[in-house]
Amino acid sequence: MSRAILQHRRFISLEGGEGAGKTSAIAAIREQLQRSGGEIVLTREPGGTPLAEQLRALLLGKHEEILVPEAELLMMFAARAQHVRNVIQPALQRGAWVISDRFTDSSYAYQGAGRGLDLSLLETLEQNVVGLRPGLTLLLDLDVREGRARTAGRDLWPDRIESERDDFFERVREGFRRRAAAEPERFRVIDAAQTPQAVAADVGGAVRAWMEAAEA
Ligand SMILES: Nc1ncnc2c1ncn2[C@@H]1O[C@H](COP(=O)(O)OP(=O)(O)O)[C@@H](O)[C@H]1O
Ligand SMILES: [Mg+2]
Repeated sequence: MSRAILQHRRFISLEGGEGAGKTSAIAAIREQLQRSGGEIVLTREPGGTPLAEQLRALLLGKHEEILVPEAELLMMFAARAQHVRNVIQPALQRGAWVISDRFTDSSYAYQGAGRGLDLSLLETLEQNVVGLRPGLTLLLDLDVREGRARTAGRDLWPDRIESERDDFFERVREGFRRRAAAEPERFRVIDAAQTPQAVAADVGGAVRAWMEAAEA
């Protein structure tokens, strides 16, 4: 029998493609959460713990040997298991807000929609290995080429996943949008093509509304 997936109100994730503005959006989220006065934990995936960051280096590094999709998937979930058990759950248990730059939705988008791995395998891993979902997920949705243009300046050496072709990233984008459409209560889709100020205002507004709804 599979375990239920717990959704936690103080757990917020940021999702979207390369260059969509996830990392830039964290400041706007933090600004809202600071009003509550509580502890805020900022973290990211893949990674978030020392061991999981080592897996990140393996996942994003380039190797002579091809990393097969199934191994990529399991390494992502191995890193996530460390992250959930050693960082996210303890933080939530002591009452902190947790913001994660990417979480399980990225696996559905990249390893599921992008690599074409079986969704039922992902669901099994999410239920049995992760067991936790954010209360709120902000999807920064952006045209693939626009995202690539933005990261071109940032990444002199694109990592292993960033080096994929545009059709891969089109499938990833569609994968994210399908998940958002399937779970409208959890997702807020933000138009990431706007100016940084407008994106920050939308992100901040979504988080403020989320906090107010939780207090009511
Ligand atoms: N709304 C925006 N308009 C234009 N450029 C942006 C916007 N948001 C972020 N950027 C720039 O695009 C690049 C990628 O942003 P980043 O936040 O690192 O994206 P991600 O974390 O989603 O890959 C950065 O150089 C950032 O300054
Ligand atoms: Mg980033």
